[in-house]
Amino acid sequence: MYEMKKLKYNYKDLEPYYDSNMFNYHYNTLYKGYTDNLNKIMDEFNNNRKNSDFSNIQNLSKRLSFNANAYILHGLFFENLTPMPNKTLLSNELVNHIKKDFGSYDAFIDELNASLLNIEGPGWVVFGYDKYLDKLLIIQIEKHQELTLIDFIPLLVIDVWEHSYYLQYKTDKKEYIRNLFFILDFNVVNNRYNSIYMI
Ligand SMILES: [Fe+2]
Repeated sequence: MYEMKKLKYNYKDLEPYYDSNMFNYHYNTLYKGYTDNLNKIMDEFNNNRKNSDFSNIQNLSKRLSFNANAYILHGLFFENLTPMPNKTLLSNELVNHIKKDFGSYDAFIDELNASLLNIEGPGWVVFGYDKYLDKLLIIQIEKHQELTLIDFIPLLVIDVWEHSYYLQYKTDKKEYIRNLFFILDFNVVNNRYNSIYMI
């Protein structure tokens, strides 16, 4: 049984950057929905195994990919937020790695902004490390599961589905992204980066 990840902050404290009604809807309705769906899908897998009936396997596999990734990405995204931002910056070790893989820190920021502003349809932008490729990369994930990489470890996860900003920012995604940077927890990014060498 999968459960929603508990928040380490009171989401009202993310205001004014992230409206609490919008957060409430995002967390308690949408994230809850994906979590419930994932649990239902796991039950269906178990029923199939018990009944030796796999006639719905293709549909089930698609729903697993969509809902499991939605569950994972939302959990990581909410963990990436904090009401006490900018106290911690990216670690020197990570910044040096970024400079090596992106050419410069400015190039990394420019690529991150371009990825956030130019994604086709609903999706996510994720900065992470692909272990197999041995490379830090910024990827765009369409919907919750398309265009992702198989051995990719997320460090910074940003939701750019319209549902993540429309209630407060309407169509002004640029303003949403600008304000989101005020409430990102770089400490979480550093910790995730440090843990990749332990996997
Ligand atoms: Fe979302």
